[in-house]
Amino acid sequence: MLKAGLIGCGSMGGGHLGNYYRFNRENDLLRLVCVCDIREERLNIVNQSEGEIRLYQDIDEMLAKEDLDMVTIALPTYLHHDAAIKCLEHGVNVLCEKPMALTVSDCDEMIAAAEKAGKLLLIGQCLRFAGNYVYLKKLVEEKTYGDVIAAHFIRCSSCRPPFGWNNWFMKKELSGGGLYDLHIHDADIMRAIFGNPTAVSAVTRPVFEDSVNDSFAGLYHYPSMVISAESDWSRKHFPFTADYTVNFERATLNLHGDVLTLATTEEPMHTVNLNDIPGIPTDDPYYLETKYLAECIRDGKPNTYNPPFESRETIRLLNAANESGMTGVTVKL
Ligand SMILES: NC(=O)c1ccc[n+]([C@@H]2O[C@H](COP(=O)([O-])OP(=O)(O)OC[C@H]3O[C@@H](n4cnc5c(N)ncnc54)[C@H](O)[C@@H]3O)[C@@H](O)[C@H]2O)c1
Repeated sequence: MLKAGLIGCGSMGGGHLGNYYRFNRENDLLRLVCVCDIREERLNIVNQSEGEIRLYQDIDEMLAKEDLDMVTIALPTYLHHDAAIKCLEHGVNVLCEKPMALTVSDCDEMIAAAEKAGKLLLIGQCLRFAGNYVYLKKLVEEKTYGDVIAAHFIRCSSCRPPFGWNNWFMKKELSGGGLYDLHIHDADIMRAIFGNPTAVSAVTRPVFEDSVNDSFAGLYHYPSMVISAESDWSRKHFPFTADYTVNFERATLNLHGDVLTLATTEEPMHTVNLNDIPGIPTDDPYYLETKYLAECIRDGKPNTYNPPFESRETIRLLNAANESGMTGVTVKL
C-alpha cells in the first residue's frame, strides 16, 4: 500500500482530501497519511475519523518525518515549481495541480528534477481524465462522424477578489491570470485531442486591478479546422460554466453543464449517456488522476497518459496566447 501526503489544503486541496478519503475507505492502493498547510484552520478540516492523518505546517518537516511514496501538491501556482522539485529530490513521486508553472523554463526544471530523481511527475490537467472530454477525444480519433470542421470551448466563472489564500489568484505574477488558471483546461485538452496549433490570435482584457487577461477570446489556427475559445472569470454571480461545441462532418456534439447532446446526419438531437459507452470513465477526474499516478508507481510504469512534457507544451501555448493578447499580433508556435 502506497503512502501519500497532501500539500496545500485550501479550496482544491480540500477536494483532493475528499478523494483521498475514498482511497482510505475503498481500496488498498494508497493511504493518505499526512497533510501540510501553513494555516492551522485549514488543517482543522482534516477528518481524523478517515484514518490516522498526521498534520504539518512545514513541508520540510513533513518530508523529513514521513516516508512517502507520493504527494499531491495543491499550493498556489507560483509555489508549484519549488515544492515539486523539493519533493522529487526527496525521492517522492508528485501529482502537482495545474498550471504546472508559469514559464517554460520552470516546467523544464521540474521535468529534469523528476528524471534525475527517477520519480514520476503528473500535472493535474484533470480534463484528460474527465468522461465528457475522453468521449470527444474518442470520436475525433476514431473519426466516428468524420473530420472536425470547427470546435468552440468556453469556460467562465465569477471569481471576484479576494480569491484564494492572500488573494493570490488576482495577482498576475502569482497566478498568471484567468488565461493561465481557467482557460488552461481547454487549452490543454484541445492539445490532447487536436495536437498543437500552428498559431494563436487572442484578445485579452484586464478586469481586476493588477491583472491582465481576466477576459479572453482566442482563435487557434489549425490547417483544416476552426477552433475558438473564450474564458472569463469576471462574470457576476453566474454559476461556473464549462461547455464545448464540436462540429464534425456528420454530427454536432455539445456539452452544456453536465449534459452531452449529439445530433447526427441520421439521428435528431439526443442526450448521450456515458454509462452506455464502453471504455469512457465516469468517475471523478481528480480521483482518477490520483489513481492513475498511484497505479503507475505501484506497477513501476512510466506516466505515458499525461506526461509532464504535455503540460509544459500547454504552458508554451498559453505564453503565445498571452503574447498575442498583449500585442494584438498573431503568434506562431
Ligand atoms: N484542477 C482544477 O480543476 C483546479 C481547480 C481549482 C484550483 N486548482 C489549482 O490548485 C492550486 C491551489 O488552488 P486553491 O484554489 O486550492 O488555492 P487556495 O488559496 O484555496 O489554497 C492554497 C493553500 O495553500 C496553502 N499554502 C500556501 N503556502 C503554503 C506553504 N508554503 N506550505 C503549505 N501550505 C501552503 C494556503 O494556506 C492555502 O490553504 C492552484 O494552482 C490552482 O490553479 C485546480
